[in-house]
Amino acid sequence: MEAQRVTVARDGKDVSGQVMVRLLGPGDRPILELLALHNAAFDVDGRGAPQRVLKPAAAEAYLADPAILHWVAEQDGEVVGDLVCHVQRLSAQDQFELMLYDIGVRATHRRRGIGRRLVAAMNAWMADHRVTTVWVLADNPGAERFYGACGFQRDEPQPVAMSRTTVPAVTP
Ligand SMILES: CC(C)(COP(=O)(O)OP(=O)(O)OC[C@H]1O[C@@H](n2cnc3c(N)ncnc32)[C@H](O)[C@@H]1OP(=O)(O)O)[C@@H](O)C(=O)NCCC(=O)NCCS
Repeated sequence: MEAQRVTVARDGKDVSGQVMVRLLGPGDRPILELLALHNAAFDVDGRGAPQRVLKPAAAEAYLADPAILHWVAEQDGEVVGDLVCHVQRLSAQDQFELMLYDIGVRATHRRRGIGRRLVAAMNAWMADHRVTTVWVLADNPGAERFYGACGFQRDEPQPVAMSRTTVPAVTP
């Protein structure tokens, strides 16, 4: 995994034609469900699988959470891309930074500028909210080149991504 970090300029208001980019909000549960079920279409070729759909209350809590920024790109009523950022509160330096948690464009719609459009919406949000730093873990070479094209730079030294998943206790 390669961590990348960027300080963005004030650019990128959405000036969409056919492709519309918007933030998800209350009532967008069907879109979360679609993205979960069609996860593979938005992931690297050969990776990704249907995800478990959130229960209605959990999905509404996600959509109402101000620390979650979930943009979708829509074309002719179809979701063609999405970008999820987490707003992280800091204990020093700036008050907040963004973690770019995930981005995906439908495999059938790649290299048409949709990824850039999603990042432009994020840049506009950052400018509006005076958040200057966004970071991401790029987990494949195509994504690294895409982030590079969007102004991200490789962090040096590279951190090592680690995680742990705890098996929940079985309740009788
Ligand atoms: C990464 C991704 C979101 C890019 O979306 P996209 O809509 O195809 O990107 P854009 O068309 O806006 O590309 C903008 C620029 O990024 C660069 N770029 C994008 N994808 C690239 C690739 N696979 N290889 C090399 N450069 C790439 C190019 O410079 C491109 O400009 P160009 O097409 O004029 O040459 C898309 O490929 C995707 O969904 N990949 C699978 C999921 C994934 O890897 N997510 C990131 C996980 S960390």
